[in-house]
Amino acid sequence: MLIERDISLQQFNTFGVEVKAKWFAAITTEEELQALAQTDVFQSGVPLVLGSGSNILFTQDVERLVILNSIKGIRVVETSLDVVRVAFGAGENWHDCVMHCIKHNWGGIENLALIPGTIGAAPVQNIGAYGVEKKDVFHSLKAWDRMTHAFVTLFSDDCTFGYRSSIFKTTAKDRYIITEVVLNLSASSHALHLDYGAIREVLKKKEIQEPTIRDVAQAVMDIRSSKLPDPKVLGNAGSFFKNPTVDQATFERLKSAHPDIPSYPSAGGVKLAAGWLIEQCGWKGFREGPCGCYDKQALVLVNYGGATGAKLLELAQRIQQSVQHRFGLQLEAEVNLL
Ligand code: EPU
Repeated sequence: MLIERDISLQQFNTFGVEVKAKWFAAITTEEELQALAQTDVFQSGVPLVLGSGSNILFTQDVERLVILNSIKGIRVVETSLDVVRVAFGAGENWHDCVMHCIKHNWGGIENLALIPGTIGAAPVQNIGAYGVEKKDVFHSLKAWDRMTHAFVTLFSDDCTFGYRSSIFKTTAKDRYIITEVVLNLSASSHALHLDYGAIREVLKKKEIQEPTIRDVAQAVMDIRSSKLPDPKVLGNAGSFFKNPTVDQATFERLKSAHPDIPSYPSAGGVKLAAGWLIEQCGWKGFREGPCGCYDKQALVLVNYGGATGAKLLELAQRIQQSVQHRFGLQLEAEVNLL
């Protein structure tokens, strides 16, 4: 097992921030992970697992072992008339898997097309977009448990999925290294989710009356690419903050002061659009040196080239302060700050 020293992580985070990892190892199989787990470097601290680094902001060098999870493979576990259960290696690219599913006519994740990141990172964050969340199709995952030194299988109930949240970000942070994720997909009679955002509008414009899962994925890709920057072109990590949820009384207060405030019913109250709040504070399109707030989606912070994580974090904090000042709301970071 090759453990390298002082490796630059610039190409391993979509913000493109330059920091170094004290130790670095890439794994491509579960056996390699098991071998790595026997090493002193692994056992001497808490390793940091990276997929494609698309939801992380490095603010300093990483004085830990960084494990690049590149475990690949896609296999059908079980099929019935309506459902196909598919296992994906944690290091597979999420969007490539969405396209693989569409090619095989497996439905369920077409609304999650073009989300950056890997399969293994998807449950950590319970990724979601356009009315669908990862948890809706989740069956189980396999992971290395650092506490018991063994592989375990975790099911949906074990993972406590919430809005951009799971045990992997909260109570079991750093405990598991995910190696495989199993999804339940539809093999026929796909249940399409067309009601979020502009999906219906895009399909109508294309004169598509009976959309396939491929049409839905394409509509989502059209919408996403019109407002979200491609990390290969412009460093970013998608939405920087979560959309805040407020209670009904707070919402009524805000609504009377700002009648056009976008809002969505949500389990714990009313969900607001962080992008709108940030835009109202005048940040949309703001740029200071290499750090900026994207001009087509204020919820996305961008690195125009050469920004440090500390400077991007400083901008994020200034945005938080102004939203707090203007609306009395505390925005919570969605990306992992390290
Ligand atoms: N809005 C503004 N100004 C902006 C941005 C948004 O007024 O600069 C308004 C929009 O007009 C709309 C509302 O805010 O009324 C919501 O905007 P949008 O539909 O673009 O979605 P979002 O709430 O900003 C969330 C997810 C995205 C996901 C989209 C689509 C979070 C934190 N973000 O963004 O996920 O793609 O919905 O489902 O929940 C991510 O997690 O990295 C991510 C990109």
